[in-house]
Amino acid sequence: MIPRLGVNIDHVATLRQQRDEGYPNVQLAADASLKAGADQITIHLREDRRHIQDADVPAVFEMTQKYGKPLNLEMGSSDEIADIAISIKPEWICLVPEKREEKTTEGGLDLLSAEGYSRIEKMMAKLRAGIEGVKISLFVEANDEVMRRSIELGADAVEIHTGHYATDFLKGVDIQHYLESFKSSYEVVKDTPVGYHAGHGLTLESVIPLLELKVFKEYNIGHWIVAQSVFEGLDSVIKKFLSKFEEYSL
Ligand code: PXP
Repeated sequence: MIPRLGVNIDHVATLRQQRDEGYPNVQLAADASLKAGADQITIHLREDRRHIQDADVPAVFEMTQKYGKPLNLEMGSSDEIADIAISIKPEWICLVPEKREEKTTEGGLDLLSAEGYSRIEKMMAKLRAGIEGVKISLFVEANDEVMRRSIELGADAVEIHTGHYATDFLKGVDIQHYLESFKSSYEVVKDTPVGYHAGHGLTLESVIPLLELKVFKEYNIGHWIVAQSVFEGLDSVIKKFLSKFEEYSL
């Protein structure tokens, strides 16, 4: 199978939020991404609404439905956002940790403390009760114990936080230990129903060593795709990822 590409279009909204003119249109960004061949659209409705706004969620969902592709809604464990998710009913929800002062999601969920584990357990129960058949992924660090807890929680997938890996890749720092941890975590989930996904900070170059591992079935990539689109357009950037992914079929 060819790994799936989820295109995160949050930063199209970041650009729009700089002014009050309504452009660039986030729904059209979803349209262009899906037309280019994206396998799903990912958006993060943050509590501070710094990029994606409430009205974007049904608008993007309508577009994904038109293409018959999933919407992957990222959210912190907040009851307010969960109620919005329940009203829209996306196919996938990715639970992420969220702090107001962070520039972007900075790390994986805390599943190791009793409090952290139980917060996620309750949020998963609420979402499952409100959205029939919803699939839930947990944004986590590559750590064997965290994998075991994700299995125990009945997650449909783990999305491995690749942010620190990607930053070190760009700096030219040794990345081998990250690759080892990604492989080791995969060993824990590979014979279970838990899918193995990756996301955060990835570029067309830094994704290659991950593709070479042949363990990730899905990548969610946004900031670099939107940034590079300034020079060559969404269609071209997305197609480059897709053809790279084809070279590394699982
Ligand atoms: N996956 C998750 C869980 C995220 O929080 C983000 C950032 O919103 C991404 C993937 C995409 O990261 P980036 O925009 O750095 O490619």
